[in-house]
Amino acid sequence: RLHAALSSLYGDRPEFADWYARLLVAIAAAAAIRPASLQALDVQREDDPQWLSRAPPLGYSAYVDRFAGTLRGVRTRIPMLRALGVGYLHLLPFLRARAGDNDDGFAVASFEEVEPRLGDMQDLEDLAAALRADGILLCGDLVLNHVADDHPWAQAARAGNTRYRGFFHVLHDVAEVQACERDLHQVFPQTAPGNFTHVPAMGGWVWTTFYPYQWDLNYANPEVFAAMAAVLLDLANRGIEIFRLDSAPFLWKRRGTACINLPEVERVLVALRAVLDLAAPGTLLKAEAIMPTPDLARYFGSGDDAGHACHLAYHSGLMAASWAALARQDTALLRTQLRLTPALPSGCGWLSYVRCHDDIIWSVLEPERSRPDERAAIAAAARFLSGGPGSFAHGLSVRRADGEGVHGSNGMTASLVGLPEDPRQLADEQALARYALLYALAYWCGAVPLVYSGDELGQGNDAGSGETPPHATDGRWLQRPRYDETRLALAQVGQGTPAQTFALLQRLGAARRRLPASHHETPIEDCSGLDAAILLLARGAHSLAAFNFSAQPQVLDSGRAMAGDWRPLWPDVATAAPAEVTLPPWGCVWWVRA
Ligand code: GLC
Repeated sequence: RLHAALSSLYGDRPEFADWYARLLVAIAAAAAIRPASLQALDVQREDDPQWLSRAPPLGYSAYVDRFAGTLRGVRTRIPMLRALGVGYLHLLPFLRARAGDNDDGFAVASFEEVEPRLGDMQDLEDLAAALRADGILLCGDLVLNHVADDHPWAQAARAGNTRYRGFFHVLHDVAEVQACERDLHQVFPQTAPGNFTHVPAMGGWVWTTFYPYQWDLNYANPEVFAAMAAVLLDLANRGIEIFRLDSAPFLWKRRGTACINLPEVERVLVALRAVLDLAAPGTLLKAEAIMPTPDLARYFGSGDDAGHACHLAYHSGLMAASWAALARQDTALLRTQLRLTPALPSGCGWLSYVRCHDDIIWSVLEPERSRPDERAAIAAAARFLSGGPGSFAHGLSVRRADGEGVHGSNGMTASLVGLPEDPRQLADEQALARYALLYALAYWCGAVPLVYSGDELGQGNDAGSGETPPHATDGRWLQRPRYDETRLALAQVGQGTPAQTFALLQRLGAARRRLPASHHETPIEDCSGLDAAILLLARGAHSLAAFNFSAQPQVLDSGRAMAGDWRPLWPDVATAAPAEVTLPPWGCVWWVRA
């Protein structure tokens, strides 16, 4: 598989055979030094290929510094993570980042060093071992698409080294740049418009899809693939068990296209997976592809490679549509997302979530291809989430590059659902129900649901105290506050909103663990009726769930899916059978076959 994928990308180069032989030697060398404890894990997982889908863990995602100061500090959070039922910890980038602006760590200056503020490689290995001992998998970012402009590869390229020049894409005249721009999208329309940065020392315009200081790597050059495969193996041998493949859709460029989701991206991912399967087969890959839902199938591999690329991918369409449903009290966009969700190869799963460190990117719902009423609904949802009269939400919108419509929405879950700012205050029933509704949908639908750090404490938007860059610079800082110790203490003594949200996620986690064994492997069937506010979902004959996206109580339409005897699983107080239930405002119920 490795040979097939790589020869399809690089096979026409005269040096391919030699290059491939050298790559195999490097893979074998990494396999030979893989620590025994990790090799034992590899064997265990290879013997039981369904281990992930049989008991998929609950995830948690955090920035190291805001969550716990340092990597060592993260160890002190393990009891909290265990109390929440977490089995998978995603730490946002912790490798040495560019000096100065660095996209909160996503501009990596060295893949061989930990960011000194956060610790060192020994701390990383110790943390990975400590988490493993507690049954928690460590997930780390592998920023695949770019490196910082002060990474040694970029520095060497700037100094004129031809080998490293070949690691980047450089365009030499402005007309070429303009022609490319016409086909490309804008990832940061407000803060980093355009996809190219003029760098005189590089003799032209460097391809920079994200910030100007993040230089896109040129995967058409096999040396780039080999270099990144080496990084992957090194970090896997240090104990990272899951890699979040950051900005994967952008890896391959072809002039005249939007340079996203090209078929070659899948080949690169299949090849990276094959590298892992040879040297560190217990390791997992997760695609960060914030793309329209139908485009996500290829991240799991297609054709003969189905199930041989990433094991997991973010379901950002489901996430964005759930916010639209909450804001509009209408599940139409959610139903569309469920219909568009591709079936997955065995052993693969969706990562579902409510919020993350990025914005809610509306383009995943494909406003440009959708009907006018859907477009209007997306725009209205974004307006609603940015507050204003009649809204319970306190978020911020990011405008699109063309000034038309909205690109994304920012804000912490608590602020977007209207939980109180004062942690000592108890949340009103409706706000808490909205919080529970979104998390219950994520917990029920995804194989691996992800809690975004601070959500378990009902923590709201960053206050903009000056500790973080101004929100006007990059609105995503709104959802990147420092972890609130006061709230944590309140949760621990059972007081205020933090105690409410923490306990709620604990109970939801317990209910999720009681879902039938087949739940995560069975496709979701949308059985919703005519009531636009209600989503009624089934998984096989064993799992049923109803979600009320409205501020009014609702009776379920009786339907085929509800026939027979069902036992409520969530909330733990619900006792009614589906046909007898009145869902409270923003309420939801999960049932299993009695
Ligand atoms: C991913 C990250 C985002 C980052 C970007 C560039 O989308 O989630 O935070 O800015 O990649 O690395």
